[in-house]
Amino acid sequence: MLAVETHQLTKDYETKDTFLRAVNNLNLKIEEAEIYSLLGPNGAGKTTSVRLLTGLLRPSEGGASVLGLDIVKNAQEIRGKVGLLTETPAIYERLTVRQNLEFIARLYNVPKKDIRHRIEEIIDLFDISEKIDLPAGSLSKGMKQKLAIARAMLHDPPVIFLDEPTASLAPESAKIVRDQILKLAKTEKRTFFICTHNLFEAERLSSRIGIINHGSLIAQGTPSELRELKKDETTTLFRFDQWSKEIKDYFETNKLEIVEMDTERKIISVIIPKIEQDTPGIIKELIHQNHSIVEVKHEFPTLEKIYLELVESESVPRENHEEEES
Ligand SMILES: Nc1ncnc2c1ncn2[C@@H]1O[C@H](COP(=O)(O)OP(=O)(O)OP(=O)(O)O)[C@@H](O)[C@H]1O
Ligand SMILES: [Mg+2]
Repeated sequence: MLAVETHQLTKDYETKDTFLRAVNNLNLKIEEAEIYSLLGPNGAGKTTSVRLLTGLLRPSEGGASVLGLDIVKNAQEIRGKVGLLTETPAIYERLTVRQNLEFIARLYNVPKKDIRHRIEEIIDLFDISEKIDLPAGSLSKGMKQKLAIARAMLHDPPVIFLDEPTASLAPESAKIVRDQILKLAKTEKRTFFICTHNLFEAERLSSRIGIINHGSLIAQGTPSELRELKKDETTTLFRFDQWSKEIKDYFETNKLEIVEMDTERKIISVIIPKIEQDTPGIIKELIHQNHSIVEVKHEFPTLEKIYLELVESESVPRENHEEEES
């Protein structure tokens, strides 16, 4: 069974005189134990997608299932089963950390005998144990966020939706959260659906990444599959012991595009179209011409570069777009 499956999932926000398609014919298949990250600009439709998938909103068209349950017919059952960290989580500020979690444990029917242990375990995992008996309102912003994440995972849900989990976290806290996500996916086969703007994080964490813009999925794949999309933009950096003008001449004569050259650092960065095939010959030839090479390094396009190019090429106003042929 797929953890999440959507068919032409669509959500329109309509008022008397406005119409906005926030999610447009989304088709996703997410396997159990995947960590799927949805990336996209502000207003792309990420939060709306999560709200649809957790039964908080009804689709305008199309549909979806989570753990085999229909998001419209079984909305309530889905809400009871999945974990959800919303974009702006509300915690009970006057209740202590423990009381906040006890409340959720009862709401989700965690067996009474397990509650205490489970709370202590999760608080420990997220490194907020020392605050357990303080009012949640006295926690720092990042600690509140960790509490909210702990709360989303408290009842051991098989599928967990996290809307920008680490946006307000300091690096060490973000790492704790990432490590927990990876561990739960690996050892307990939990599925994660994460909305994020953090490309570094998405790349490290995700089994697959979907990029959404104006409500539509514009690219999807494993981090390395996405990087492959721009493989021909991979550059190769050569660093030399000594700089000489002949180095530049060599690359120019061989019609290799120079993307960067810094004679002080004695480096030159070029695009080699047949990178695998041609790099050894180039190195050989440079050595043959008595240039001592200190370093040769392929620099693959970063996910950030790919993301920005995809999103920017999509940002042309719709009216100017020819209908996509594919
Ligand atoms: N309740 C609503 N009524 C009308 N329009 C809405 C509503 N909720 C969201 N929208 C609009 O739908 C679009 C998608 O919003 P959504 O919150 O899903 O984006 P997002 O990808 O989560 O953005 P962000 O990265 O800023 O969180 C936006 O244009 C937003 O203004
Ligand atoms: Mg959002």
